[in-house]
Amino acid sequence: MRNTSSENLTPLTQNSFNQLPDARLQFIIKTFIAHLHGFARDTQITHAEWRAGLEFLHKASAITDESRSEFSLMSDVFGLSSLVDLLAMGTERATPGSNLGPFHTRGSKEVKSPANLLKDNEGEPVAFCGKVLDLNGKPIPNATVDFWQNADNGLYWQQDPNQPQDNLRCMLHVGDDGSFEIVTIRPKPYTIPMDGPVGALFVESKRSPWRPAHMHLIVEAPGYKTLVTEIFDEEDPYLDNDAVFGVREVLVAQYKKSTDSELLSRYKDIPNLLEVRLDLVLE
Ligand SMILES: [Fe+2]
Repeated sequence: MRNTSSENLTPLTQNSFNQLPDARLQFIIKTFIAHLHGFARDTQITHAEWRAGLEFLHKASAITDESRSEFSLMSDVFGLSSLVDLLAMGTERATPGSNLGPFHTRGSKEVKSPANLLKDNEGEPVAFCGKVLDLNGKPIPNATVDFWQNADNGLYWQQDPNQPQDNLRCMLHVGDDGSFEIVTIRPKPYTIPMDGPVGALFVESKRSPWRPAHMHLIVEAPGYKTLVTEIFDEEDPYLDNDAVFGVREVLVAQYKKSTDSELLSRYKDIPNLLEVRLDLVLE
């Protein structure tokens, strides 16, 4: 094609991918091109602005390594990760998904419910309890709950050489009645990494970098859709402006002083035990 114009450029670019054998991938790339060109047209983007955008991506690439992805963070803070989670939801009767975040590590120690993860951790002890249920409210006895969270200083074990590698995480097998019980500490709010180009954009935009405190979960059972989600703290000051848009009303739980006699007798050595109760419903 010798006569490339602003009119024919978009279909020309799209058609250059006609030989891609994967039809879905071809559709995704062609749609991406349509939106990318649409973005340039809508904004009437200048050369200087386009170069600044590329420079932003170069900086993101430079700070990205095996344990840190500035591109995942970009996806999070531009709302894309949350949108993908929301689009993946089938029915509203199932527990909604939320951000996976960058601190999930496979291979957490396998334990049978109930599990006590307290060890030497400072912080407010809390028993996180509930059942894994199907859409009809029937327990799913062969479910697993992959659990992880940050310590009282706001850091995950990967960020803190003073924490053992297995701190505040486990792969829990639920009880025969679908029940789970994890004794842990109340998680703390934390900020997204601020040392890269995303952080600089946050400073310039006067955007809050905080994430409200949360526990992370991946709930799995054969024959059910895997649930990746987070459980938030009703009293957290950052619930209404999560930097990565992960909060959903039904994922916000109440931390209250435990009055459950079974819990209190099982953990009689733990003073001021709090309790969070929430059932997790799989589709
Ligand atoms: Fe997190």
